[in-house]
Amino acid sequence: MDENSHEMISNLKAYLEYLKGMGIVPLPVAENIPEKVIRSETLTLAEVRKELGDCKRCKLHRTRRTIVFGEGNEKATLMFIGEGPGYDEDVQGRPFVGKAGQLLTKIIQSINLSREEVYIANIIKCRPPQNRNPEPDEIESCSPFLMKQITSIHPKIICALGTFSAQTLLKTDAKITALRGKLYDLEGVKVIPTYHPAFLLRNPERKREVWEDMKKIVEWLSNNNIA
Ligand code: URA
Repeated sequence: MDENSHEMISNLKAYLEYLKGMGIVPLPVAENIPEKVIRSETLTLAEVRKELGDCKRCKLHRTRRTIVFGEGNEKATLMFIGEGPGYDEDVQGRPFVGKAGQLLTKIIQSINLSREEVYIANIIKCRPPQNRNPEPDEIESCSPFLMKQITSIHPKIICALGTFSAQTLLKTDAKITALRGKLYDLEGVKVIPTYHPAFLLRNPERKREVWEDMKKIVEWLSNNNIA
């Protein structure tokens, strides 16, 4: 539900309560419409994309070329979430298509899956200038859309790639070295952080740990009878 609809429902509720206060009682007004009920609507990915529109909610819209929404299987059981688009992604409008992306593709293939079978997205959808780190206001503006994508896809497990992804999804300041390889819960969806492929390009000796984390994903899916 977009902000306007949400505001409309709040106004309507307030009006109905006003009428009730005036003694006009036949209108059925629940004492408390739980926020969760109002917000729990699941949109299709196309609807989320439409709601995002030509987003200008944060300053990154001034320097981006394209919005990198995410791509893959709309019903994926496994989702990969990175940090944000880099140069190649900004040009092509697709996530993880540069050097780090090529490594991510190999990581996905190492567990006998293809990019088309999983869903790939980022914490932020627009490239920060000079690939600087995303800033808190940018993450704050963008993450509701990622959350709607997660709700829509309803994956069983999310692999958080790198510090920003893991820290944002898990709402923690802990270091990626401490977070990686463990399973966490995000509103019923498992989250397993691992190193970002760009970090692996600079530190290839850490690939073994990512391989261990991928094996954990496969093991968790198989223990939970998910193909
Ligand atoms: N790094 C990311 O975090 N995401 C991309 O899409 C590309 C590089």
